[in-house]
Amino acid sequence: KKVVLAYSGGLDTSVILKWLEETYGCEVVTFTADIGQGEELEPARAKAEAMGVKEIYIDDLREEYARDFVFPMFRANAVYEGEYLLGTSIARPLIAKRLVEIVNETGADAIAHGATGKGNDQVRFELGAYALKPDVKVIAPWREWDLLSREKLMAYAETHGIPVDFAKAGKKSPYSMDANLLHISYEGGILEDPWAEPEEEMWRWSVSPEKAPDEPTYLELTFEKGDIVAIDGRPTSPARVMEYLNQVGGANGIGRDDIVENRYVGMKSRGCYETPAGTIMLKAHRAMESLTLDREVAHLKDELMPRYASLIYNGYWWSPERRMLQEMIDASQATVNGVVRVKLYKGNVIVAGRRSETDSLFDESIATFEDDAGAYDQKDAAGFIKLNALRLRIAARKGR
Ligand code: ARG
Ligand code: SIN
Repeated sequence: KKVVLAYSGGLDTSVILKWLEETYGCEVVTFTADIGQGEELEPARAKAEAMGVKEIYIDDLREEYARDFVFPMFRANAVYEGEYLLGTSIARPLIAKRLVEIVNETGADAIAHGATGKGNDQVRFELGAYALKPDVKVIAPWREWDLLSREKLMAYAETHGIPVDFAKAGKKSPYSMDANLLHISYEGGILEDPWAEPEEEMWRWSVSPEKAPDEPTYLELTFEKGDIVAIDGRPTSPARVMEYLNQVGGANGIGRDDIVENRYVGMKSRGCYETPAGTIMLKAHRAMESLTLDREVAHLKDELMPRYASLIYNGYWWSPERRMLQEMIDASQATVNGVVRVKLYKGNVIVAGRRSETDSLFDESIATFEDDAGAYDQKDAAGFIKLNALRLRIAARKGR
């Protein structure tokens, strides 16, 4: 009887809104969030009002998104399949959580979303919703209707009095795009040919490295417990950190990626991503950990990281195993405190320095190539190597 719809204000979700009313005879509550996609929210409100929606939720979730989702994920240095910084994947569990909260607040019984039946997003929305509200009903129109082409969608809009400017607002991009504070993504169109190089005009957040400034930009990033808390000495909130790093990173051509990835549903998919802030954050965080984490802790984190990244990619943010890993990762970050200095230059993030007054495990008196005054006894190394060689020598004697 009442459905909460994740509503962007675009043509697709506007058609979904009408289709839900018509097909299920239900009342629709719309939910639109600012997670840093860089679009005005008020037009979405106006459109929902114009279509007669009575309950309209518009939320600014930028700080919550950066603080409770992106930053915890970056403590793990999470990267999917060696490349993808999970910019869409990590936003979905927050949308799922908010959809469920609104279901509870409005006495609705179902959620609806505009993800197709072929992708990852449907899985992420729905696993999240079921994990937080086991009996919630889910409506995924793309899996049910037959409006499978642009033309059919437009025709439906026209016959159902959805204002045409809903479709024309902004020039329609030839790509399926998704954006939030962490990235902007492009799929479909000419990208469906993995050999085809994207045209320069596709990229919206960054200049090409060729066109980036000839002068480097230096930044000092202050870490507390693995999170960036200040830039160039100025305390900065998580969302502001990301907005600022996106801006200077994009201006220096940082964070473009072009990959073929494995979707959870089984197909390979080609996608292009711009993740300027994330690219800087990952590099700087690893540099901070290099100084402050114990070797075995760091290596164990690296072993678990691909599992953690797959959990997020596949939609298991709200699972017990992700929470368990998070506890472990967060515990490791107690000592990840200090400052990293990075140089941004023509698409590169170069670590220029790192220091930690309180937590550095780097001991110059031991590491030095100069006289260490007895801090490290080189004679100890002979026995260390010999015992480690023991099994190799036994095997070699046997001719193996
Ligand atoms: N392939 C990426 C992922 O699975 C991006 C998905 C983009 N989503 C979208 N609705 N356009 O995370
Ligand atoms: C979609 O299918 O809705 C977008 C792509 C994806 O979710 O992987």
